[in-house]
Amino acid sequence: MKIEVIVNGNPQTGEVTERTRLLDFLRDQAGYTSVKEGCGEGECGACTVLLEGRPVVSCMVPAVQARGKRVTTVEGLAPEGELHPVQQAFLDCDAVQCGFCTPGMVLSVYALLRETPDPTEAEIRTAIAGNLCRCTGYLPIIEAAKLAAQRMRGVTA
Ligand code: FES
Ligand code: FES
Repeated sequence: MKIEVIVNGNPQTGEVTERTRLLDFLRDQAGYTSVKEGCGEGECGACTVLLEGRPVVSCMVPAVQARGKRVTTVEGLAPEGELHPVQQAFLDCDAVQCGFCTPGMVLSVYALLRETPDPTEAEIRTAIAGNLCRCTGYLPIIEAAKLAAQRMRGVTA
């Protein structure tokens, strides 16, 4: 069947079956290769995107469930050629090594800060609990989330 999904503000049409995952629709049909497949079983968070503003693991969501809805990938966070403050904070805190977890991690932090501009460390840890990183040991990621929150609130550290 044909579906249309609003990806990063742009209508994106594709041909899917009821078994097509949102992950595959985004990567293979819409071309958003920031959406990574790690486990394929809902465990690692590498495939995280925002569906109507909320983080979901796109390997577990049928593409048809996103029909007519808004999906955000990391490509949609900032205009081309610019970085969103969350992305900039990840860079500044060395919170990226191999980068495989990073798009999903950034989207989870972004979603947190939209709802909770001044999160506690516990709230940050909870927000990224579904995103596994095999490289960084998580501390730089938590620091990046704190830095992004400060900057987005206009607080200079
Ligand atoms: S690939 Fe979707 S959670 Fe791991
Ligand atoms: S930076 Fe390598 S998995 Fe997180």
